[in-house]
Amino acid sequence: MSKIIDGKIIASSLRRDLSREIISLKEKYNKVPGLAVVQVGNVAASSVYVKAKTKSALEVGIEVIDHHLEDLTTEKELLDLVDKLNNQNNVNGILVQLPLPKHMDEQKILDSISPDKDADGFHPLNVGRLSISASNNENLLIPCTPYGCLLMLRSLDIDLSGKNAVVVGRSNIVGKPMAQLLLKESCTVTVAHSKTQNLKNICRGADILVAAVGRPEMIKGDWIKDGGIVIDVGINRIEKSINGESKKKLVGDVEYSEAEKRASAITPVPGGVGPMTIACLLRNTTIAFKNSLKS
Ligand code: GUN
Repeated sequence: MSKIIDGKIIASSLRRDLSREIISLKEKYNKVPGLAVVQVGNVAASSVYVKAKTKSALEVGIEVIDHHLEDLTTEKELLDLVDKLNNQNNVNGILVQLPLPKHMDEQKILDSISPDKDADGFHPLNVGRLSISASNNENLLIPCTPYGCLLMLRSLDIDLSGKNAVVVGRSNIVGKPMAQLLLKESCTVTVAHSKTQNLKNICRGADILVAAVGRPEMIKGDWIKDGGIVIDVGINRIEKSINGESKKKLVGDVEYSEAEKRASAITPVPGGVGPMTIACLLRNTTIAFKNSLKS
C-alpha cells in the first residue's frame, strides 16, 4: 500500500498561506492582486477550469477581471484585449485559457502577454528564466501544473537529489517545464514520449515517475518500480462498465489500482495534481503583484 499524496490538502494549505499574505499586503499597500481571466469560446472543459480558477482566486482575496469572448472573436481583437490588460494597473496576472479557437495562433497570443503579468509562466522569457535560473525558490513565474507536482514531491520530505526521474510527456505546459524543475532539484531526468522505445523499461527504472501523456491508464501498474513515487497529471474522462452499467469516470494516465500496490507514494485522480495547478496560479498572480510593487 502506498501513501496517497493528497493534492486537496496541500493546495488548501498553500491557499491559506496566500490568503494571509494577501491580507497583510492589503494592509500595507491598500491594494490586492488582480487576475484577468480570458476565455474565448465555450469549450466545456475550459469553462469548468475557468470557473474553478475564478472561485479559488476570489476566495484568497484576489480580484478577478473576467473576459469571456465569443468563438468568432478575431485574433486581432484578442491581441488588442491583451494589450489593454498589459497596461491596466489593477491587472497583475493575465491568464488566457487554452486551447484557443483554431483560427488563432496560440503562441502569438502567449507571446503578447507581458512577461511580468504572465500568470501561466508560458511566455518565452519566463520559459528561458526557468531554464537558466539555478534554483526553484526564486520569484519566478513557473508553469502551474509542473510547479504543483514539485510541491507534492517536496511534501514527502525526501531527498530528491540524484533520484532517477522519468517524465512521460513533452508538452510545453507540463513535460518540458517539469523536466527543468526536476533537473534543478538535482534529479537525473529522462523525458519520454509517444515515440520512446521500451517505455515500460524506462518507467521501471523511475524513482519518480511523472505521467503527463493524456491517455487514460496508459502506464500500467507493473511499469512502476517497487517503492517508486508516482505523480499522475492525467485527467481523462472515460466510460467504464461498473456492475454491468456504463458509468462516466475520471481516470489518470496511470493504472492506479495496480500502481498503488507498488509505489511508495502516489497522487490520486481526481484530488491530486488538479487542485495544485489552481493554487499555483494564485501563487504566480501574487508573485507578479509583489514584483509590481518593487518596480
Ligand atoms: N489549458 C489546459 N491547462 C492550462 C493551463 O495551465 N493554463 C491555461 N491558460 N490553459 C490551459
